[in-house]
Parts: sequence; C-alpha cells; structure tokens
Amino acid sequence: MKKTLALLLALVMVMSLAACGNNADGEASKAPEETNSSAPADSTPPEQGGSVANKDKPLVWFNRQPSNSSTGELDMDALSFNKDTYYVGFDAVQGAELQGQMILDYITAHIDEIDRNGDGVIGYVLAIGDIGHNDSIARTRGVRKALDTAVEDGGAIKSDAVGINADGSASAVKDGKLTIGGKEYTVRELASQEMKNSAGATWDAATAGNTIGTWVSTFGDQIDIVASNNDGMGMAMFNAWSKENKVPTFGYDANADAVAAIADGYGGTISQHADVQAYLTLRVLRNALDGVDIDTGIGTADDAGNVLSDDVYKYVDAERSYYALNAAVTAENYQDFLDATKPYAPVSNQLKDDAHPTKSVWLNIYNSADNFLSATYQPLLQNYDDILNLNVEYIGGDGQTEANITNRLGNPSQYDAFAINMVKTDNSASYTALLNQ
Ligand code: BGC
Repeated sequence: MKKTLALLLALVMVMSLAACGNNADGEASKAPEETNSSAPADSTPPEQGGSVANKDKPLVWFNRQPSNSSTGELDMDALSFNKDTYYVGFDAVQGAELQGQMILDYITAHIDEIDRNGDGVIGYVLAIGDIGHNDSIARTRGVRKALDTAVEDGGAIKSDAVGINADGSASAVKDGKLTIGGKEYTVRELASQEMKNSAGATWDAATAGNTIGTWVSTFGDQIDIVASNNDGMGMAMFNAWSKENKVPTFGYDANADAVAAIADGYGGTISQHADVQAYLTLRVLRNALDGVDIDTGIGTADDAGNVLSDDVYKYVDAERSYYALNAAVTAENYQDFLDATKPYAPVSNQLKDDAHPTKSVWLNIYNSADNFLSATYQPLLQNYDDILNLNVEYIGGDGQTEANITNRLGNPSQYDAFAINMVKTDNSASYTALLNQ
C-alpha cells in the first residue's frame, strides 16, 4: 500500500518536473537528482499529509559513541545528525577510575597475601576489549593509572596492549611503585591483549578464557591479579582458572553472573547503571516522538512520575550525550546488585497510551553474543519498551561487520525512530547513509 503510494507520488513528481522543462535561460530548472523517482512517500512533510522523512526521525546512538577509533575524537556530524539525535552511554572516565581504585583498594586491604609467590612483585594480567573503543581505552588507562603502571604519550595514558611483558621492559607500561603500610611494592603488567577472535569479534569472552591458559603457562604463580575491561571476559578467565586458584579477578558491567560470583571470590565489578542507560536510550526517542521537551521523564518528572536524579546520570549538551554514572560493586555491597535486569524504580511507571501512543522503533545490538548487551542491556530495554509504549524490533549483529546489521534495515520508512549500536565507532555513515536515502 505504502509502496504504491510512493510510486504514485514519484510519478506525479516526475510528470510535473517534465512539465517545467527548461527555464528562460535555457538551464534545466531541476537538477536530475532532485527528480529522483525513488523519493520515498514519507519525505512529504507531515502538514502535506505525508509522514516524516527518515533523515528527520529521532535517532539514538548507544553504547558505542560515534568517534574516531584511533584518537577518540567525537564524531559530531553523527551526534547531531538531526535535531532529535543523541548518544546514550555512561561516563567512561569516571567508571574507569572507579575500576582502578577498586583494584587498588583490594590490593591495599589484602597486601599481606596478595603476592602469591613472594617475589616482591605484584603481577597482573589485563584483558582488553577493543583497542579502538573509547570505553575499553578508558578502562585500560584507569587500571594503569591506579596501579602506577601508566606511561603517558602526548598527555594521554597509553592504552596499547603489551603482549607479554615478563621482564617489565614493554614500552606501553612501566613497573609501578605502590607504598602500602609504609612499605614499597612493585606492580607489573605481566601481559595484556585485545580479546578479538579470528572472525574479528572484539570483547570476546572465549578468547579471554583461552588466553588465561597461555598466560598461566608462562607466568604461573607470578599472576596475583586478573583485570578485565568487562565481565564477559573476566568471568571467562575466572571460570577457566582464577576461581579455582583463588586469584582475585575484576571486571566491569555488573552482569548478573559476575555479581553472583563475588560470593565465590570474583574480586569486583563496576555497574555502569545499565538500568538508567536502557531507560534513557528509549526515553529520548519517546520524547522526540511525543514532541515534548527532551528532559521529560529525565530531569523533569513526566505525567506518570518518572524522573532521574542527577546522581545517576549527566547530560553534556555540547556532545549531545547522556552519560549514566558508575558504581563499584564489591563484596561489601554486591547483594544490592544481584538483579541486573530490573528496571530502575524511579523510572518504572507505565505511560498511558492515549497521551503516548505506540510507536515503532528499529534497534540493533552490534553483537548478539556480547555478554553485557545480551544478558543485561537488552532485557532491560525489553522491560522499558513496554513501559514507554514502544514497539521495538531488536536486531542482533554478528559483531564483525556493519553490513550484517544494515542489511536488515531494508525499509527504514517502516519505523518511527532508530536506536543504533555500531560495530565500530567510526562507522556512523553506514547507518546515516541509509536514513539519508
Ligand atoms: C561493555 C562491554 C561490551 C561493550 C560493547 C561496553 O560498555 O562494558 O561489556 O562488550 O560495551 O560495546
């Protein structure tokens, strides 16, 4: 039906343009591309009875912030694609510093038993998620900064993987010095590696589970701490080795299995407040679709009483970005975080469908095998989509190519809004090109 309408409109356009012909100066009055016969029906402005053009529909980027994967510079073209475009993520630097501090606090509290082989060196290994992902970069830096193993380059802490660093000579890190209880200890990053599988998927838990075996055969009881950019990889290493060997392992995300594992010796994790992020991801779309102030149900209570307090998120207008704030989850407080997929109570009130009629949203997860996104984030989104009266189509990618995902956005005109989780943070144009068509 829609297609027939589109064709009809296109035909009318072509005919009326043909009728214009050349103007008095003999120039074509319309450039050929403007007579594009595939112009979608919905590019007609709403006041003329059409729907909204895809390029003007609300768009939220989430979890992977459009940015240059080498420099981290934000891709402001993507972030301000149209007036209803936002990013939703979390404060990567604040969370990374918390993760580093959590590990340092653990070392301090367990200094008498932390050095397993008594060689005077506190050795750690680090699983890196994706060397081009700003969350991953921040976490690598946070751990190195807290443990004094960081090396700066042009004012920024290096975040490269060192591979194997048995003698402390790697150039991306240095041997750190920590003074605890008046005594000085050396800390060494014995090994670090990007956990990418042979097909190209990053943050790969299975790769981390295998790599810990290699590291253990190289270093044995020199490994005193296992650190990871996320819980997926952290839990793979914990289950493969550190649980049995009682080596504290630290991750990030507060996935339910990782929080539960704290009872069995998992060192700790960071909650990136996925319950707040998943809400914000859909809330900004809801607000744009309702044509209300973007702060509705965020900093300002909505008609159902949903509101967030400013200790759980911040909005940076210049970056068009909402960032949830992080919290450390350790043996002291993990009981409060066991249910990772429960909506955040202050924003769990159902919207009425007369004032907020059902709209349809296309949303993708870059990799359906990503532990955090599939076990924590998506279940939360699925709770909030009901609360916010959004009919969301969830698409799971293979974590390797954007095409695997964009191929499944064949007809953007079918949806009222889009939520996008890119495979690579540089690739926003793969999506905006489709919406611009
Ligand atoms: C999470 C990781 C996840 C990644 C996916 C990060 O924020 O901490 O667990 O793999 O997002 O983009």
